[in-house]
Amino acid sequence: MHKYIVGLDIGSSNVYGAVGKVDNTGEIRIVGITAVKCDGLKKSVVVDIDSTSRAIKECVKNLERMVDINISNVYVTLPAGVSELIYNKGIVAVASDDKEIKENDVMRVLEAAKLITVPSDKEIIGIVPHQYIVDGYDHIIEPIGMSGMRLEVDAQVVMAQSTIVNNLRKSISRAGININGEVLQQQAISQIVSTSEERRRGIAFIDIGSQVTDISIYKKGNLCYTGMMPLGGDNITNDISICLKIPFIEAEKLKIKYGDLSKKGDNTKIKINTGYNDVKEIELNYLNQIIEARCEEILRYVMDKLKQNNYNDEISGLVIVGGGLALFNGINIFASNILGKSVKIGSPNYMGAASPVYTTVVGIINDIVNTMKISNNLDDLENEVNNDSNIRNNFKKKENKDNFVSKLKEFFNEFF
Ligand SMILES: Nc1ncnc2c1ncn2[C@@H]1O[C@H](COP(=O)(O)OP(=O)(O)OP(=O)(O)O)[C@@H](O)[C@H]1O
Ligand SMILES: [Mg+2]
Repeated sequence: MHKYIVGLDIGSSNVYGAVGKVDNTGEIRIVGITAVKCDGLKKSVVVDIDSTSRAIKECVKNLERMVDINISNVYVTLPAGVSELIYNKGIVAVASDDKEIKENDVMRVLEAAKLITVPSDKEIIGIVPHQYIVDGYDHIIEPIGMSGMRLEVDAQVVMAQSTIVNNLRKSISRAGININGEVLQQQAISQIVSTSEERRRGIAFIDIGSQVTDISIYKKGNLCYTGMMPLGGDNITNDISICLKIPFIEAEKLKIKYGDLSKKGDNTKIKINTGYNDVKEIELNYLNQIIEARCEEILRYVMDKLKQNNYNDEISGLVIVGGGLALFNGINIFASNILGKSVKIGSPNYMGAASPVYTTVVGIINDIVNTMKISNNLDDLENEVNNDSNIRNNFKKKENKDNFVSKLKEFFNEFF
């Protein structure tokens, strides 16, 4: 199994799983991908550990069958919406006699930045370094190897409710799976559907799922805002169900089959199943008006959030990912008209995984492989991926501006 990297994205409607394989040139191939229905979460939070772990088990079994491997270790995302960012600074004296900055100094300065007051119901789940400062010289991305007396870091410390992350971890371990490491969802998404230049110019990522919409903003290359709204694709289905007086499950089928934001005034008649062994006809136009109304509301809330936080003028465009809105035909023009910005739909650019619903899960694999590439020579990558203990060491070494430095170290101590 150690030739492969397995990612899990546990959402409110589905558990998504993917297996990535890295070839000799360092390119990732997605060799297995699957989605399993899961009703153990409400608004991205685990409310039923047993049913979540059953869905995780099934998802992993599907991947094992697809790729013909045994899976015991996975990488997971921590849900974006439940995390909060706190800016802090860390300062340390460079330890070595020759005053060359070593990995150990970087680890120490990041630990120093984590020294904030953490409420008793929360925990630090990671840290995103924005810039390092060596003897007063700022904007340093990679300080290792530089000479200096004093190393500082400006960073965003990422905190989350302990209960939420622990229940997520419990669901995975109850499925008999070890967590190799955690990736912050915002980081996983941002790296797979945008360029570093776009993140420098300012960009917002809107992950519209079934029950929540997560918003994250990058400015000057750095993650600077993360927020959540309790709205998603299920609200659209619910509206259809209520307006047409049909069961939720029928409304979901109609939404997926006919939902289209590019068609206006289409009075084609479609047949709908009322759930009482009865069929009636409605105009397609009516269905799409219901969908449009809720999409517009969700997008207006997104805009309000951006404005409230004074980020609206600072972003040049938005990327929509997730299944909630991104899969409607015509969504980018529709969203662009409401938001007054360029909008694109973010999908992973990998064969067999090119759907906005897979952005997070493929993003996990991409993030992990990038982390390895930065820590190692590309030639060694295949070996590194083949060997879990090497992966462990990589994460102990690795700190990079574009990567989320999570609780990987603690996990490694726990699991190996
Ligand atoms: N073809 C489609 N057209 C429109 N909506 C779709 C389509 N396929 C799936 N959806 C909707 O996408 C939503 C699921 O999206 P996604 O899988 O991103 O959510 P999730 O990650 O499980 O949940 P969350 O992110 O809210 O925790 C559902 O509301 C579903 O109805
Ligand atoms: Mg999701």
